[in-house]
Amino acid sequence: MAPILIAPSILAGDFARFGEEVRAIDQAGADWIHIDVMDGHFVPNISFGPQVVRAIRPLTRKPFDVHLMIAPVDPYLEAFAAAGADRLIVHVEANPHVHRSLQAVRALGKSAGIVINPATPVDTVEHVLDLVDLVLVMSVNPGFGGQEFVPSAVDKISRLKAMIAGRPIHIEVDGGITPETAPLVARAGADVLVAGSAAFKGGAGSYAGNISAIRKAAEAARGTLV
Ligand code: DX5
Ligand code: ZN
Repeated sequence: MAPILIAPSILAGDFARFGEEVRAIDQAGADWIHIDVMDGHFVPNISFGPQVVRAIRPLTRKPFDVHLMIAPVDPYLEAFAAAGADRLIVHVEANPHVHRSLQAVRALGKSAGIVINPATPVDTVEHVLDLVDLVLVMSVNPGFGGQEFVPSAVDKISRLKAMIAGRPIHIEVDGGITPETAPLVARAGADVLVAGSAAFKGGAGSYAGNISAIRKAAEAARGTLV
């Protein structure tokens, strides 16, 4: 079984001390750094662009998991790749030609991920599974941190797990993940857990404990806690 990975979303960090926050969450045990890119068009909020990704790239060696909530996405893939993204995750709903976008990500030499919103059926990713190394299931409607977990994500993760049928593809979940919801998604088959508010709550002194509480809850639910 793939180990549980925790990907804190720096959207929940303090923007006035962004670099310090990236270093702190790295040292607190983040496996990947999840970077939420929002355009005020595909989602009703604006966050940051490739310049911010470039600025924080020297601060950590952890993989940059870049969640692109932007439409169109294709014109920006190269800029995010050049800025230091390791994986570019594109939304099924944002683009009628998502197969082409995933091919473009691969041509840039980056890992490719596909993401589905809460209302989007799991079948929509079936025919691109050979182009991705990760499927992200949204457990909130994208646009904001701190929203409540949407429980129907759990069944979607189980269906996706069956569809993936043992292929080396991560199942990531994003939105409302806490030590309380982590067991539900881990048991269903998610192995990468994004956490914004639950990772960054309480200030830097709490980050390691926050990450470890989510990880332990997930591992215990799968019966892999050692
Ligand atoms: C939502 C983002 C999430 C968000 C998660 O659009 O994709 O990554 O920051 O935040 P929490 O964990 O607070 O729900
Ligand atoms: Zn995200």
